[in-house]
Amino acid sequence: MKLPLPPLPSALQPKPRRPGEAEPVKPVDQLKESGIAAVDWIDERTSLSGGARWMMFRKVPKGTNWFYTLGSATLFAFLNQAVTGVFLAMYYDPSATRAYESARFITNEAFLGEFVRGMHKWGSTVMVILVFLHMARTFFFGAYKYPRELNWVIGVVLLILTMTMSFTGYLLPFDQRSYWATIVGVNINGTGPLVGPYLNDFLRGGPEFGATTLSRFYAIHMLLVPGAIAAMIGAHLYLVAKLGTTAPPWQKVEQKAGVTEEHA
Ligand code: HEM
Repeated sequence: MKLPLPPLPSALQPKPRRPGEAEPVKPVDQLKESGIAAVDWIDERTSLSGGARWMMFRKVPKGTNWFYTLGSATLFAFLNQAVTGVFLAMYYDPSATRAYESARFITNEAFLGEFVRGMHKWGSTVMVILVFLHMARTFFFGAYKYPRELNWVIGVVLLILTMTMSFTGYLLPFDQRSYWATIVGVNINGTGPLVGPYLNDFLRGGPEFGATTLSRFYAIHMLLVPGAIAAMIGAHLYLVAKLGTTAPPWQKVEQKAGVTEEHA
């Protein structure tokens, strides 16, 4: 048998509702209301919700499938690189004499250092694989054709920037493998036609491969290229939202009253 609750003191008793008075608002509803009020406050001053709605509530073609998630997966891999990279930069020292030791410190001594470094290292491989898969998807679905040629070109720039991230990041631990592998990589760049030797000089930061090369690679790796990637992703996604995504090539285009209906 359930015993009745002990009576509350009169000061804590809920007041009886007056005739015509609305039902009391529950705390969870109050919380929701204040959230909505805060968003409304910002929206009234910025009109951001229109843009957000334009970006997020888009019609997608019939037959959209899991292959369409590869672009967002690449974006997620990039964000993972950005977040873990910030934490690595808190401990990493890009000087020729301290780089190796600071990387060792991150792995062996810093709190969760091995985990964060592992996430960054494996994340870079994942991002490269995803960007190629995403490119293959857009190629095989014919998404590079009119009117999306510009988005394909921006994609090519993103691909080059992603590879540049991988290349410049590889030197940073400054161990034997990364040192010699980067010398090979820089020399391969040098064999390119016309710009090759200039690119070689620029990457080395002078005639010799050494301390300036390392700080140059670090600046390219953590400032120049991530900034360019973020800007390019912005342009890429703007065009995706503006043009919509391509229907799969096997999707039959339905003709309705003379109007081409490609979208569901
Ligand atoms: C950092 C690299 C990249 C990110 C974060 C990214 C992100 C995205 C996202 C989220 C979409 C929309 C969803 C989807 O179709 O998957 C998209 C679409 C597209 N991407 Fe990328 N992308 C990247 C690299 C590339 C590359 C390397 C290419 C080709 C060279 C490319 C070409 C395209 C094209 C043509 C579309 C339109 C697809 C369609 O209309 O169906 N992207 N991208």
